[in-house]
Amino acid sequence: MNYFNRFISATIILSIFLSYSCTFDSEEEFFKNYYCDTTNITYNDLTYIFTDICAVCHSQTITYRDGILTDTYESTKLSIKTGLVIPSIKHTGPYPMPYQQPKLSDCDITKIEAWINARFPIDTNKTSMIKDFNTHKQDYNINTNK
Ligand code: HEC
Repeated sequence: MNYFNRFISATIILSIFLSYSCTFDSEEEFFKNYYCDTTNITYNDLTYIFTDICAVCHSQTITYRDGILTDTYESTKLSIKTGLVIPSIKHTGPYPMPYQQPKLSDCDITKIEAWINARFPIDTNKTSMIKDFNTHKQDYNINTNK
């Protein structure tokens, strides 16, 4: 067998192997990791964005924009109601957010929109923690020494 034939047979064997291995994973299995679950989103599911990312610059102690605060449930809701948050995170407004950081993932943005469409639900089991945010910062894994 010359090199060319060896190459051809190797290619054929490889393609057969690949087409087999693809059928092992079902499509559902394959997309599972990429599926963005937007069902029953509550405020609690989004604090890793609002509290951990945005509130670094938009909180009661510091905000770079009057009326935009994302450190509590109520302030986040009011900020969104200004109509400025969605354009900023979708990068369709004048100020792309988070400021000078990579855009949120499409899934994160979809989750926020789903939450808004569902009229800002909050997990009632954790309501007290959120209402009492300042005395429960440790529950959110936030560095209170900041
Ligand atoms: C590193 C700091 C920083 C972070 C993080 C940050 N912002 Fe901002 N944000 C700013 C600054 C600075 C401005 C003011 C821009 C100006 O007025 O010149 C601003 C302005 C805004 C505005 C007003 C936009 C407008 O059209 O007037 C909104 C809404 C906003 N931020 C939302 C967010 C959201 C939501 C997040 C999290 C996804 C976020 N920001 C993260 C610094 C930040």
